[in-house]
Amino acid sequence: MQFNFLISKCMSVNENGMTILNGSQQRNPQLDEVITTMGEASAKAQNLKQVITSPSRFYQTDQKLYIKSEGKQCLGILKVGKKNLFHRDLNGLVREIQPLCVLDFYVHESMQRRGIGKELFEEMLRCEIICPEKLAYDRPSPKLLGFLKKHYHLSNYIPQNNNFVIFSQYFENRQQIVNQQLASQNSQSQNASTPQKIEQLGTLMSQMSIQSTQSKNQQQQYSKSQTPWATDQKSQQNMYETTTGLMSAQIQKKR
Ligand code: ACO
Repeated sequence: MQFNFLISKCMSVNENGMTILNGSQQRNPQLDEVITTMGEASAKAQNLKQVITSPSRFYQTDQKLYIKSEGKQCLGILKVGKKNLFHRDLNGLVREIQPLCVLDFYVHESMQRRGIGKELFEEMLRCEIICPEKLAYDRPSPKLLGFLKKHYHLSNYIPQNNNFVIFSQYFENRQQIVNQQLASQNSQSQNASTPQKIEQLGTLMSQMSIQSTQSKNQQQQYSKSQTPWATDQKSQQNMYETTTGLMSAQIQKKR
């Protein structure tokens, strides 16, 4: 997209032709023009009724806008921001998560399929220190789905009512880590005396509570049948066995 001024005159551009803006950015009329024009072009390219990226929808938010430019040309934009989402799995289990989301992504028609999208995306991954599977994608277009499949082998997801796509890999590592921790705590507690077991259970529960706070609710699951500290059926079973072991040890001690 051609402008009649050098893009670097209205925003700071790094050696890769990248600009990273946040919502508290100082505004100026040329910068507003770039955001407005690119936002409108993106909405048009996606056949959207509403423009997703505009100065009024960007400033004073905690979103970030990545811009790729060259001289007077703006080649593409990528907007990300955190959202609170509810994700339902195939068993109907709902989790509340707060992922960083790809909200708008556009490369000018004349420059598509030349690697500009990948450059923008990789810049964002580096700056946000995140991998593609840990992002959520707001109504990804077929082109974006193709892009993610080609560059990052992401294709497996459960369609949601909110139209955000979260790939199955989003949940994998975290769950494995929690399960491993529980298994290791469990095996330690099997060899311990009753007071040690109680202490270990306390430590385990406080660790899980810290972990839960640190990941900003990402590890919470909402299920009526679940105990508050268990994060899946296997974890719940592990906790149940630990607790049952402790109770029977205490009963035996009393006897
Ligand atoms: N048709 C199908 N797949 C495409 C197309 C297309 N016209 N353009 C890009 N892709 C996919 C393909 O997998 C392609 O690989 P291939 O050429 O070997 O088939 C790959 O992306 C190319 O990668 P890049 O060159 O790095 O990507 P590009 O610079 O084209 O940027 C983007 C990708 C941003 C999706 C761009 O195509 C675009 O702006 N499309 C129109 C707007 C759009 O759909 N944006 C996503 C909206 S959803 C959202 O923002 C959350």
